[in-house]
Amino acid sequence: MNSQKDLIRAIEERHSVRAYTDEPIAAAVVEELEEAVAEANAASGLHLQLVCGDEGAFSSLLAHYGRFRNVRNYLALVGPKGADLDELCGYFGEKVVLLAQQLGLNSCWVGGTFSRRKTRCEIADGEKLVGVVALGHGVDAGRPSRSKQISELANTHGMVMPDWFQHGMQAAALAPTALNQQHFIFTLDKAQEVVTAETTGGPLSKVDLGIVEYHFEAVSGHAVAGSAVERLGDRG
Ligand SMILES: Cc1cc2nc3c(=O)[nH]c(=O)nc-3n(C[C@H](O)[C@H](O)[C@H](O)COP(=O)(O)O)c2cc1C
Repeated sequence: MNSQKDLIRAIEERHSVRAYTDEPIAAAVVEELEEAVAEANAASGLHLQLVCGDEGAFSSLLAHYGRFRNVRNYLALVGPKGADLDELCGYFGEKVVLLAQQLGLNSCWVGGTFSRRKTRCEIADGEKLVGVVALGHGVDAGRPSRSKQISELANTHGMVMPDWFQHGMQAAALAPTALNQQHFIFTLDKAQEVVTAETTGGPLSKVDLGIVEYHFEAVSGHAVAGSAVERLGDRG
């Protein structure tokens, strides 16, 4: 478990799933996810919470319009308000999502079509609920979405991409983004050493940015300069 090959397989096999079976998440899987959530919170200062056996967040008409069925488990993306909150939720949330995929679960990021009021999580003073990620056993494994070409998502100043950068970009291109907007671009400097990433806008685009940064870093083995995660290091 958790080898690079497993991770790439999880990235390739993950698709958004909005309808789930009644099968609960096994206790051992819950335990492993809880550990990953605790690690993510310790590393980031976020207040991510795994919620199991709650139908409230997806019982509203809004969730119905969003085509969600039978969602009973989710990751609540909560953290201290601040400029980096969305990006950190994207990065650390996706880390948990890809572990869940490797543990045989399906998922769907949800920024809009759920009930914030009925979401069963703790939001302390100064914190905000950014969104949730539905988790569970899907009625199916979902379907691949259309992805942009890597050439549309990367700027290498006209130079040939090194393999590690190309692999990172392939992983980023398969990442979930709100409305499948893929409004991001990775730039490799002319010395082919420093990678930066930015969003070109759109709803929840900073959450998307964190998600794609996680895919890129996990697969390429190269850090993205100037990211919210890098700024966490500056603080410590
Ligand atoms: C930050 C974010 C917010 C999202 N919000 C919603 C949502 O409110 N409702 C929904 O049905 N899907 C939502 N999605 C799922 C996207 O529509 C989905 O990831 C995208 O279409 C790509 O499909 P894929 O995940 O199967 O690759 C969201 C995804 C992300 C990353």
